[in-house]
Amino acid sequence: MKICNGWRRFLLCLPLVFLLPHIFSVLELHQTSTLEDLHKKQIKKFDHLVLGPAAGEGLHDRLQCQGIKALNKTHFSASTDNSNYGENIAFVTVFTTYDSSIDRAIGGKSRDLVTVGKISYNKLERSMAILNVFINFIQVTMPQSNIIILTDPASKLPVHRSRVAIYPIQGEYSRDKLMLQRIRSYIAFLETRLEEHSQRQGHLNHYIFTDSDVAVIDDLGQIFKNYPNFDLAFTFRNNKEQPLNSGFIAVRGTPDGIRRGKVFLQEVLKVYRSKYIKASRMLGDQLALAWVVKSYPSFDAKRFTRPQAFLEEIGSASVLFLPCAIYNWTPPEGAGQFHGMTLDVKVVHFKGSRKRLMLESWNFLNSSSSSDVSDMLCLILKSGRTKYDF
Ligand SMILES: *[C@@H]1O[C@H](CO)[C@@H](O)[C@H](O)[C@H]1NC(C)=O
Ligand SMILES: *[C@@H]1O[C@H](CO)[C@@H](O)[C@H](O)[C@H]1NC(C)=O
Repeated sequence: MKICNGWRRFLLCLPLVFLLPHIFSVLELHQTSTLEDLHKKQIKKFDHLVLGPAAGEGLHDRLQCQGIKALNKTHFSASTDNSNYGENIAFVTVFTTYDSSIDRAIGGKSRDLVTVGKISYNKLERSMAILNVFINFIQVTMPQSNIIILTDPASKLPVHRSRVAIYPIQGEYSRDKLMLQRIRSYIAFLETRLEEHSQRQGHLNHYIFTDSDVAVIDDLGQIFKNYPNFDLAFTFRNNKEQPLNSGFIAVRGTPDGIRRGKVFLQEVLKVYRSKYIKASRMLGDQLALAWVVKSYPSFDAKRFTRPQAFLEEIGSASVLFLPCAIYNWTPPEGAGQFHGMTLDVKVVHFKGSRKRLMLESWNFLNSSSSSDVSDMLCLILKSGRTKYDF
């Protein structure tokens, strides 16, 4: 059934979406056909942006929008250039492509084409497009920073951009092992940095490990200056089961910071393999991360309920916890716990089925008619509830 086609009709359908979790909880399980119908409706993915209401309306500390025009300016501070302090930031991401035999079988013409703007993408081109937009945002927001892509030595990434380096690391990059491999690659990378440090002194390079489906929209160098005492940083949210997100990890580029960051990640890897290996495809690393943090008796998990940054000694490391609301803002899947967008949001994470929105946001920002970050955030805020095809 296509009852939710078109964004006007989508608005009418919203109450149905809100009701779904409730319907699920009261339905008898043997009514499978009804459940399947509901499920089909839920996973409908759109091939164009669907604008809905902006969450957080009327809250004075949340972004207010009129259409996709922002009523608040979100970015007040001029970006600081850390290189003046002899410090630099490098973004590090794990990225690999999968040889898609289906795409090739039909002479390069895939049946599975998806169009954004004037460009059509097959599966492989889609993931390359995400990587390129990831780079675009960083190069606009933090032009002094470098980007390091950790990848399977077997994959030949067609990335030729300035300030971007490809760094092959041996490992197992199959889809179902990717999250496990990601931590391994981070650890291997930090090891090489330690070796380098022992050979040369002076210039500091801080590292921010992120997923590649994020848009960095404000200077993140300030984290290292505003919180001078942390070794590594994670982002947290008020979620009992999964309070920590592994999509954003900052490591201070001092020898101590790198060493402690490495030891901490090794601990997470150990817990991942011993306790959560069955969840390895998606969530294992986040569960392991939360387990390691909560296993320290002095740690108070109540601190995750307030969106304020805090510092905690965990093992030998000083760990900074940063609120997802600012450093890892994600459009929510459902209707719950969604209070809009803070005015100082710095990183937007296009998890799951939001990848189309990442491209559309970049195109919007880069279009000559409107190049305002605040307006782009309104676009994201209004369309982030929907699942997309990209
Ligand atoms: C954001 O804009 C709205 C509408 O103009 C206004 O009421 C609100 O006070 C603004 N918030 C801040 C923090 O300036
Ligand atoms: C931004 O848009 C211009 C055209 O308006 C285009 O030439 C340029 O390649 C775009 N930049 C990126 C990084 O996509």
